[in-house]
Amino acid sequence: MTIFDSYKVKNIEIKNRIILPPLVRFSKVGRDGLVTEDLVEWYRDVAMGGAGMIIVEATCVAEDGKLRHNQIGIWNDTFIPGLKSIADECKKYNTPVIIQIHHAGFKEEIATITEEKLDEILEMFIKAFHRAKKAGFDGIEIHGAHTYLISQLNSRLWNTRKDKYGIKKNNRVAFSKMLIEKTRDIFDENFILCYRMGGNEPTLEDGIEIAKELELLGVDLLHVSSGVPLLDIKQEVKIEMPIAFPLDWVIYMGVEIKKHVKIPVIGVRKIKEEKDASWLIENDLLDFVAVGRGMIARPDWVRWAHKEYERRTGTKIRVDY
Ligand SMILES: Cc1cc2nc3c(=O)[nH]c(=O)nc-3n(C[C@H](O)[C@H](O)[C@H](O)COP(=O)(O)O)c2cc1C
Repeated sequence: MTIFDSYKVKNIEIKNRIILPPLVRFSKVGRDGLVTEDLVEWYRDVAMGGAGMIIVEATCVAEDGKLRHNQIGIWNDTFIPGLKSIADECKKYNTPVIIQIHHAGFKEEIATITEEKLDEILEMFIKAFHRAKKAGFDGIEIHGAHTYLISQLNSRLWNTRKDKYGIKKNNRVAFSKMLIEKTRDIFDENFILCYRMGGNEPTLEDGIEIAKELELLGVDLLHVSSGVPLLDIKQEVKIEMPIAFPLDWVIYMGVEIKKHVKIPVIGVRKIKEEKDASWLIENDLLDFVAVGRGMIARPDWVRWAHKEYERRTGTKIRVDY
């Protein structure tokens, strides 16, 4: 097995094990949140570069849920044609493409947001999934990581709510559960439900429990990144890991979580070298590796990695891009 082997999730054939993770490209987007030619070009370059699958950047469900003014949006139908142009472009290169659906959260603590407001946001997520399908994507990724709204709701430190969105035993992901249950009908064999979760929410043990719940809910693909570590979101706390583990702690969380679920797992962070990605995949430590900053530097990272692989191993292999 190599990083260049394909992998089928439902009916979607992911061309190889290297994925473009969501990366907001603020400089390519205006205040209106519409997709630009420049943005389409970036995704075209990555598709041409051989990525196994593309996850389009954090796309906001509500105007007041943006991370920054120049983030792309999906809160009404006028966004569909622009988003469709990204999906169409990736399809030209036979590259599966899903889109990350996001709400940044609020300045107030999650515990103080009214239940009605969360009901409203839940509806916005549902509508966003439908729009993503209309735009021709092969699936969506729920942004449930990085201290944003859903990550806060998944954190037992932050989410002290007592209502239906609160954390309960065997139901730590109440908001996500409702969202997944209300949209089950759109996730057919040609539409992937991917979930980007915090592996540390706030500890890795919590992350493992969350992953198991998401698997039971029918998530098709799990993407393990970082979560809400402490009450102070600016302070990044690394989890304990064996000294012998040679790569980043967020990758380590993905590797550990994979041991507890049967669904495929994407790991991410600081993978730049072909040999590191190959080590993770060839030893079945992860199913996919996402390469973010590495692809900003080289949109053709997979083609480059192919040459690296042949040079390093002295073996020629055929790769279909
Ligand atoms: C410029 C930039 C934009 C990012 N945008 C997003 C985003 O939209 N959604 C998300 O979940 N993560 C986002 N991330 C995090 C990346 O997806 C990824 O997890 C992180 O960069 C670590 O992987 P890397 O070391 O391969 O870059 C962003 C990171 C960078 C550097």
